[in-house]
Amino acid sequence: MSELSVNHLLGIKHLNAEDIQLILDTATQFKEVINRPIKKVPTLRDITIANLFFENSTRTRLSFELAEKRLSADVINFSAASSSVKKGETLIDTVNNILAMKVDMVVMRHPNPGAGEFLAQHVDASIVNAGDGAHEHPTQALLDAFSIREALGTLEGIKVAIIGDIVHSRVALSNVLLLKKMGAEVMVCGPTTLVPKHMHTLGVRVEHNLQTAIEWCDVANMLRVQHERQDINHFPSIAEYRAQYGLTMDHLDALDKPIVIMHPGPINRGVEITSEVADSEHSVILDQVQNGVAVRMAVLYLLAEKRKLKNSK
Ligand code: CP
Repeated sequence: MSELSVNHLLGIKHLNAEDIQLILDTATQFKEVINRPIKKVPTLRDITIANLFFENSTRTRLSFELAEKRLSADVINFSAASSSVKKGETLIDTVNNILAMKVDMVVMRHPNPGAGEFLAQHVDASIVNAGDGAHEHPTQALLDAFSIREALGTLEGIKVAIIGDIVHSRVALSNVLLLKKMGAEVMVCGPTTLVPKHMHTLGVRVEHNLQTAIEWCDVANMLRVQHERQDINHFPSIAEYRAQYGLTMDHLDALDKPIVIMHPGPINRGVEITSEVADSEHSVILDQVQNGVAVRMAVLYLLAEKRKLKNSK
């Protein structure tokens, strides 16, 4: 198979295992390209992409923009904070105005779950979800999977513990869905108040003890406590959270095996992970960032190919 089964990347839930394999294999080829002295290819020369960010971002926004430029696409950037959204313009009006400038693809981050799906039903462009509220962050899960495969050679049978604020995390949900589709074993670990009650229905183990989780896993994906999405206090204090769920070098030294440490960023250093662990030889955190460019190049390329096929029919 050399084409995606979908016209948009709205969530991992819409992808099958072959789609995921195709994206990861295509990203491997693009990673080779971006490590060459000349990092640019003419692949998307005729394509215009709008990056619409209605929520803050560092890694995802820069990584998409770089991926688009490496593929020679024309790129326009929109940030809600400095736009007419502040004057009350709706999402559909905003996007239709941008599409009137002949835009082919839209990469969108939005605080509302399902914003990408809504857009895909109302506009003609190919939509890529760059994070929608606490729902999904599909390209993060794809780059995490790429990084695990790079570190350990496979996803099949690998034990991944996702640790921290699960309930507010789009990264957790997209990772669970992807890893299960690709044959990995998944555990989520965090305080009872930060793990949704339905989690076991997704076929994952639920654990509340950090030491047990890291003794079980091959990979620990440490998540940030998302204070900005919390309307109530889910734990008594940061100091208490750190004492129960903060990963330290002492935890890793007590293991009888090495484990791979991941974090999607931004990191709360000294809260969910110490600087010593984040910067250690066990950590692939900056590899994740580098792999994000190759994975996003693969997603954009494959969706553009799909769009070409659709338009030629
Ligand atoms: N991992 C991630 O989505 O980071 P940003 O919020 O900085 O894009």
